[in-house]
Amino acid sequence: MVELKRFLVPWIDQVKPYDTDDLLIAWSRPELKRMMINENPIPPSEKVIEAVLEAAKLGNRYPDSGPRLRAKIAKRYDLGAENVYISHGSSEIIDMIMRLFVTPGDEVLLPNPTFSLYGIRAKAVGANVVTVDLTSDLQYDVPAMLRAVTPRTKVIVVCTPNNPTGDFIPDDDLMKIVELGIPTLIDEAYLEYHMEHESKAPLIRRYNHVIVAHTMSKAYGMAGIRFGYALGDETLISYFRKIQIPWNTSLLSMAAAEAALEEEEELRRKSAYNNAGVEYVCKELSKVPGLKPYYSHGNYVLVDATDAGATGKEIVDYAFEKSGIMLKAFAPFRGRNGFFRIALGTHEENTLCVQSIKRFLGNRKKEKKA
Ligand SMILES: Cc1ncc(COP(=O)(O)O)c(C=O)c1O
Repeated sequence: MVELKRFLVPWIDQVKPYDTDDLLIAWSRPELKRMMINENPIPPSEKVIEAVLEAAKLGNRYPDSGPRLRAKIAKRYDLGAENVYISHGSSEIIDMIMRLFVTPGDEVLLPNPTFSLYGIRAKAVGANVVTVDLTSDLQYDVPAMLRAVTPRTKVIVVCTPNNPTGDFIPDDDLMKIVELGIPTLIDEAYLEYHMEHESKAPLIRRYNHVIVAHTMSKAYGMAGIRFGYALGDETLISYFRKIQIPWNTSLLSMAAAEAALEEEEELRRKSAYNNAGVEYVCKELSKVPGLKPYYSHGNYVLVDATDAGATGKEIVDYAFEKSGIMLKAFAPFRGRNGFFRIALGTHEENTLCVQSIKRFLGNRKKEKKA
């Protein structure tokens, strides 16, 4: 046996893989309610499934870079096909950006909390991850982010709406970041739930260091099919192509994406279903004394149970054990340890989840009185 450490990149010990243990449990026990990861509870449409089956018949052939699909995506933003890079989900885009811009010891600036994969992929290329806490009302602290920029800052990530907090960054704040001239990823993974909000895609015409990322894993409901895309200046996209793995997007996922783009009504239906779930969960949980749900523009709701006298972990454990509902606890933030996130499920699942949380807190109250 060789001593692998002699050969491994020296920063390997700081890399922790994205935790997918929950998914292993969920797939092995289909009776559980998967409300721990931000999926769409509605399966793909018949048209999407048909398109995938049709594409599978050509599965012996290598795919191209999807010029027709890229042109269709580009048209939505009034851009050209050369401004679009298609990918195996937007996680790949996050990874590509780190590989393009970051060398060991460089800094990647992230808000905290946010989607954990940014930090993981940054560390995988040896970055120092610099996080700036959101404000106490969970908004971007842009002055603090600007102060955290150093000559070694190579990438800034803006997730909008942010996962897990659910809010958009205001335009003037975003522009303060963009104007720094540092490669900036604007991750709009959840934007399609609120089409009344405009994409920041037009920025790529004026700023060649801005990348706008989208995914079909969320409102389109294709997380298992895997499709995402990046919008950027033509030259920036050509750099993506230099380091990309060829055939990164399968014929099946391209076909699914093309079919899904045709179904605007289906997208509206899925978004409306989700948004009704968000309203319901927020309304019900805000009636519980001490519980604070944060209204979200995504398919998740962050809740703070600190003032109700519970930790996020206690609620997550209770919902799992008593109701078979999988939720996600979040690390303590600003001294408050009650944070957990509900990824919206079907309306029935949302109701069960609300009931389970109310029952837990009701029991807790009784225990305290006794
Ligand atoms: C903000 C954000 N960006 C990107 C992703 C990854 O999406 P994809 O499935 O396209 O890789 C997620 C998934 O949860 C996310 O929350």
